[in-house]
This record gives sequence, C-alpha cells and structure tokens, in this order.
Amino acid sequence: MDWPWRQNPWFETVAEAQRRARRRLPRSVYAALVAGSERGVTVDDNVAAFAELGFAPHVVGQPPKRDLAVEVLGQRLSMPVLISPTGVQAVHPEAEVAVARAAANRGVAMGLSSFASKPLEEVVAANPQTFFQVYWVGGRDAIARRLDRAKRAGVAGVIVTLDWSFAVGRDWGSPWIPEKLDLQAMVKLAPEVLARPRWLAEWLRHGQLPDLTVPNMAEPGEPAPTFFGAYGQWMQTPPPTWDDVRWLVETWEGPLLLKGVVRVDDAKRARDCGVRAISVSNHGGNNLDGTPATIRALPAVADAVGDDVEVLLDGGIRRGGDVVKALCLGAKAVLIGRAALWGLAANGQAGVENVLDLLRSGIESTLMGLGRASVKELERRDVLVPPGFTRALGADDQPSGA
Ligand SMILES: Cc1cc2nc3c(=O)[nH]c(=O)nc-3n(C[C@H](O)[C@H](O)[C@H](O)COP(=O)(O)O)c2cc1C
Repeated sequence: MDWPWRQNPWFETVAEAQRRARRRLPRSVYAALVAGSERGVTVDDNVAAFAELGFAPHVVGQPPKRDLAVEVLGQRLSMPVLISPTGVQAVHPEAEVAVARAAANRGVAMGLSSFASKPLEEVVAANPQTFFQVYWVGGRDAIARRLDRAKRAGVAGVIVTLDWSFAVGRDWGSPWIPEKLDLQAMVKLAPEVLARPRWLAEWLRHGQLPDLTVPNMAEPGEPAPTFFGAYGQWMQTPPPTWDDVRWLVETWEGPLLLKGVVRVDDAKRARDCGVRAISVSNHGGNNLDGTPATIRALPAVADAVGDDVEVLLDGGIRRGGDVVKALCLGAKAVLIGRAALWGLAANGQAGVENVLDLLRSGIESTLMGLGRASVKELERRDVLVPPGFTRALGADDQPSGA
C-alpha cells in the first residue's frame, strides 16, 4: 500500500537529491561527499561557471527525434555521460555495485575508484562497461599487479588519475573518519548515526556495517588494506613522470583515460605519450584550490588536441543542460561525481537511475530547444560564452587568463 504521507522517492532535480542526501546521511558521511579543499574556490567555480553560459534557442522547426548515443573509449553509450570514480565509503551498503547496476540499466559506463568499497570483479559483473581507476600508488610493480587484476576481471579500460596533490584542510571543516569501525569509533559516531535511523536501518537490513577497507588496493593473496593504510603508501610514493605515463599506456595496451588534465601543454604531452583520451578535471575541486572551473579550461584543451584525443570533462555537472554546454565547448562526453553520489544516498540504485534519467531528459529538452537532432550536431555557437569566460591554461600564446 502506498501511504499518503510517504515521500515520493522520485526527485526532480539533482539539487533535491542532494537535500535528501543531507537529511539521510550521518553528518560525517555527508561532509565526505561535499568534500572540496581549502577556501572552496574551485569546487564552487565548477558549478557556478555553468550558470554563466547561456543558450540561444529556436522557436519553430525542431527535429521530432533526438539521438543521444555516443562512442567513447571504444564503448557505445546511450548518452554522453559516464560515472566518475569516487572513493567514498559508507554512503549505501550496495555502494558501487548499485551505481554500476544503475549505469548498466541506463546504458552508461561506470568508473570504479581504487579507493572504492567493492571489489572490481563484483562491479564488472554488474556492468561490463566498467573502467577501473588507478592512482600512482606504490610504483610500477605494484601498479602493474593492479592493472593485471583489472585485465583479468575484464574491465573495459582504465582511468588514470594523476592530479592529486594531498591538499589538507577545508575552511568549513573536515569530517572525522575512523581507520576502522571498532568499538571506540562506534561510540564516537553513535550520536550522528542514531540521528539518521533510516541510514542505519538500511545497513542493518543488509546485515552489515561499513568496513572502511579498500579491496581494490589489496596485494594478491593479502587482505584489503584500510583506506588510511593505502593512503599512507600513496603519500610515500614518488610522483609519476611523463615516462611513467608512457609506461602506463604501453603496459595497459587497451583504452586508457588520463584524468586531471587542465593545461594545454599537459594535454599535448599526454598525447605525445600515446594517451588517446583525457578528462579535463580538477578532481571536483578537491585538489589544488584556485584551479579554474573545468568548463573554463575545456575549449583551449579541446582546440589543441581534440582531433587526436577524445576530450571529456568532469566537474560541476548537475543537469542535462550542463552536459550540452560541455559538448558545445568541445567535450565528447562528461563524467559525473557528486550527482551520482547524491542519487545513491537519496535512494540507492533507483536514485542513481533517477539522476541519469534527469540528465537524459535535460539533454533531450536542451537539444530540442537548440533545434539539434543529435548530440553530435552541437556547436560552439549554440552557447553564449561571456567575454573573459575561458582560461587557456598552459597555452604558448596565453600564459594565463584571456
Ligand atoms: C567524495 C569524492 C571522492 C572522489 N574520489 C575520487 C577517486 O577516488 N578517484 C578519482 O579519480 N576521482 C575521485 N573524485 C573526483 C571525481 O571522480 C570527479 O572528478 C569529480 O567528482 C567531478 O566533479 P563533480 O563531483 O562536481 O561531478 C572524487 C570526488 C568526490 C566528490
């Protein structure tokens, strides 16, 4: 029976999914998803910059049908959206498996973080269009073992994220995250968990509690390390060189996306190392604060390497119109981070499907307004770009700004 006072589980915007996530998740878990770094300039700009772009719609003569399908990294997707890898724990008991199922049901690809809570074999079983994300942790031998495991699991490709700079501290405060959920941690977290009974009930219904380990960072035959154990190893690993990027491309041999490129010179270097797909990304504003919104950096990068490299974008996507704006400015597809996490927190797998449906209908209606029959027809002149909007980072002729 449908109780009249029960909230409709369907939500109409990503903003509403975020509100529900805030009401549903314990304070620390919600804060871990908000993330961001330092002043929060970048995390805010990622979203705000999309609002600065406008559209120039037609009034009559729109095509009756619209085609959203694209091919990215050798995968056919029902729309130009992929799930971005996010290493967060404790959002939902089914976690990345629920996200992967939702993505499979909606015909989009899944990015699975090295710091995810579910083993990649389970996620690939839920969605064969899974890309495993690797960080530069432990050096070449350890990374080769992780790549080998991903290959055996049958992933569609890898996402290499190299932009992490270990920023610490947020002006609005960081949540306390325990190393493991022992008795002491449970006592400390009890007040905020008991204030969120629906979240707790969901975990109990699944007969488990968050265990805060990272199974995809396990060495063969070893138990999964804790998040902090793996993070400590990462901090001690010397940062990668461009030679290491070339080594990654040659070792992996299959589809590979380099995530975190914002500069034109880096995009060209990546191309010269054999990288054939990049995501213009600033790690969702969780990294070097003061990096401009990715949508500002995108046009210069796409102009520089777009003919040789598949250029994607992530950061700040909250609606279908944002996807279209990114496509107009040179992206082939986008990845979504928080939007999927808000959906997962709000309503599990169905919540992620809800978010993907909102993006799809938003892309559809924007295409209709713009009079375009396909995402492939979108052009730069379909969006209004205010003067001074773009940032050509690392371009020869434009040292900054302009
Ligand atoms: C809580 C959180 C955890 C993340 N963890 C990872 C990660 O493990 N690996 C990675 O490549 N990117 C990670 N990211 C970055 C996302 O993949 C993506 O770049 C970013 O979320 C895009 O911005 P958006 O959240 O505005 O869509 C994380 C982002 C968030 C918000």
